[in-house]
Amino acid sequence: MSLRALLDGLPIPILQAPMLGASSPGMAAAVSRAGGLGALAAAGTAPDEIEPAVAALRSEAAGPFAVNLLMTTPAAPDPGEVDRALARLAPWYAALGAPLPAAPNAYAPDFSGQLSALVRAAPPIASFAFGVLDRTQVDALHGAGSYVLGTAATVAEARAWAAAGADGICAQGSEAGGHRGHFLAGTEASLVGTMALTAAVRQAVDLPVVAAGGIMDGRGVAAALALGASAAQMGTAFLLADQSVVSAPWRRAIETAGDDPTRLTRAFTGRHARGIENRFMRELGVEEMQVPAYPVQNRLTQPLRAAAAAADDPEMISLWAGQGVRLAVAGEAGELVRRWWREAGEAAQALARRTAPQG
Ligand SMILES: Cc1cc2nc3c(=O)[nH]c(=O)nc-3n(C[C@H](O)[C@H](O)[C@H](O)COP(=O)(O)O)c2cc1C
Repeated sequence: MSLRALLDGLPIPILQAPMLGASSPGMAAAVSRAGGLGALAAAGTAPDEIEPAVAALRSEAAGPFAVNLLMTTPAAPDPGEVDRALARLAPWYAALGAPLPAAPNAYAPDFSGQLSALVRAAPPIASFAFGVLDRTQVDALHGAGSYVLGTAATVAEARAWAAAGADGICAQGSEAGGHRGHFLAGTEASLVGTMALTAAVRQAVDLPVVAAGGIMDGRGVAAALALGASAAQMGTAFLLADQSVVSAPWRRAIETAGDDPTRLTRAFTGRHARGIENRFMRELGVEEMQVPAYPVQNRLTQPLRAAAAAADDPEMISLWAGQGVRLAVAGEAGELVRRWWREAGEAAQALARRTAPQG
């Protein structure tokens, strides 16, 4: 068996994107049960909670699924930088009547501990963003029986994952919601659209490609497959699903999104991410390159975002969403997957009619 064979064998070649803070184990299980492939976003999960979480999903999903980690390097910011970052955030905390947090001891769960736990948990697919594993790490996952799916925002990153021994590439186009997964070049040089990226990665590496970014319905799924992708990964399209855990103000912002509502911002987390523009993004955007790098700024704004969600205030929450957000629809996640696959078939038939020889 290979990852290509697994993806080709899926009844529905739709992957639910891992979405920290938005997707849920219930969503992953529903997508896998429907014939697609669900994913658990485990980047925020402590190492010792990973095995039980994967075991629970294994019994719920009744089919293949993925577990995702973000390759975060341990942060050791100097205290002066943290103090300045907190001072910058102080008026925002004050506006919500929330206490300014003290400098935390840790900024993110320990990635190497998470990876060891993931090897022990041995999910069918282990997926990663923000970096590239080394050969030894990939070998350990293979030894456990997991396929490795690496996120690439550029062709060079796809080649790096191929050189590390990955089994497939998730090509993340610039339309995508949430954090940019790039790790080799800067943000600007790593903003390649899904259409260009999918076809270029397909040509550059001999691995199955999963297209991600801006795929919102069956037409998008059909387009991804037409570009040579083995499957389409959809994130924003699931944000209004019954099993989505987005907060009420975030959900409302999606439901009422304007024409071209998303922007890239570094203000919330210290790493560029795409979300619906709000006051925090606009006002902190002026000095967003000065905020500490991920995961420091991410950790320092977490209590602020939680307080804003509790206060039903969309202006201080990271409203992560992709460029296709206007097309998001509500529904049960498994039903959505079945519907998008029906639509993909209709789109393919319409295209076949259009391309058939005339006469
Ligand atoms: C709310 C949200 C959270 C996300 N969290 C993660 C994550 O934890 N890990 C990851 O690899 N990608 C994450 N992503 C990116 C998705 O995996 C995927 O690349 C993206 O959703 C695809 O583009 P689309 O949103 O236009 O469908 C997130 C995206 C969103 C919208």
